[in-house]
Amino acid sequence: MTNLSVYEPAMRRALELAALGPAYGVNPQVGALILDKDLNVLAEGFHKGSGTPHAEVDALSKLTSVPEGSTAVVTLEPCNHTGRTGPCAQALIAAGISRVVYATKDPGNDSANGAKTLSDAGVEVIFGVLENEAKEQGRVWLTAMEKQRPFITLKWAQTLDGRSAASDKSSKWITGSAAREVVHLRRSQLDAILVGTGTVKYDNPDLTARKPDGSRYEHQPLRVVVGKSELSPDLRVFNDDAPTVQLKTHDLNDVLSQLWVRGIRHVLVEGGAEIASEFIQQGLFDEVLIYQAPLLLGGSNVAVTDIGISSMADALKLEFVEIKQLGADLFIRAIPVEGEK
Ligand SMILES: NC(=O)c1ccc[n+]([C@@H]2O[C@H](COP(=O)([O-])OP(=O)(O)OC[C@H]3O[C@@H](n4cnc5c(N)ncnc54)[C@H](OP(=O)(O)O)[C@@H]3O)[C@@H](O)[C@H]2O)c1
Repeated sequence: MTNLSVYEPAMRRALELAALGPAYGVNPQVGALILDKDLNVLAEGFHKGSGTPHAEVDALSKLTSVPEGSTAVVTLEPCNHTGRTGPCAQALIAAGISRVVYATKDPGNDSANGAKTLSDAGVEVIFGVLENEAKEQGRVWLTAMEKQRPFITLKWAQTLDGRSAASDKSSKWITGSAAREVVHLRRSQLDAILVGTGTVKYDNPDLTARKPDGSRYEHQPLRVVVGKSELSPDLRVFNDDAPTVQLKTHDLNDVLSQLWVRGIRHVLVEGGAEIASEFIQQGLFDEVLIYQAPLLLGGSNVAVTDIGISSMADALKLEFVEIKQLGADLFIRAIPVEGEK
């Protein structure tokens, strides 16, 4: 029986490499190492985005030949299909790799089963080294592939009494600059930001990803406005700073399908309360990010309205996975408890 822990240092490094690739786009973040028979590192690689070599091929490209008995350590099961690049399982076999160690299985319809191709070709395959860490790092892409819809992050800023806007409907700025900085960075790492037409009318937000000095991040997510209202083209969301689409429907599954076809794998739902509540009621969310300010506003503009629950026994159960202080505010990340949605 192989002791999996001998591959953990290399897998930890592969996860670090994976994180260097873009977090947005249709492809996952993947890192890979090639080790010699004594587990010394021969080459490193990672995936730099759609259309560029996969991590295994990137690592192999740095070697003129692969010594006998070499091992490839990869954060994701090597792919088995020809997309914009060739199948990694074949590339590893052709290079003469003896053993492949990977962390998580590939749930993709087209890309999965690389492990079987490898073992059919006589390559030793070891699965599950640092699997939990790799699943956490790859949660957006893995979830999107499993559910065949974009990963949905719901985000709102609220006061201590759970209000997301004042009675005049203003909500700028509930939280301070530290929280806003983190939100903008997060926006720059995903595919789309979605809001209801109400938010566009009341707030006239830019919905771009901006650095603290006001300049824009290189990657701007698609701005998605959902709702049937005719909106003035002069609203900021329609400026040239980032692409924008208005989807004139109330059917959220239709919205998600349209986004999927456009290559959106991670959507950030930024409100307002009406549309966020619909996502919750329909079980269409994978995580909730709350930026909690030490303010009290009172009034009726609650962060979440009716989600079809009338009794405590039916409350949706989430668990906190991250809690952090950001300046004067608190950041909370919570995910639905498995089987509760
Ligand atoms: N604190 C925060 O984090 C935060 C974030 C965002 C907004 N806000 C505040 O929230 C307020 C705006 O929120 P809101 O709740 O009034 O508006 P909203 O949720 O932004 O937009 C609601 C509109 O979305 C459209 N829509 C599309 N699909 C829908 C669906 N499935 N269900 C329901 N509506 C759908 C409808 O418009 P059509 O009639 O056009 O179809 C609906 O009237 C503002 O005061 C804003 O300042 C706060």
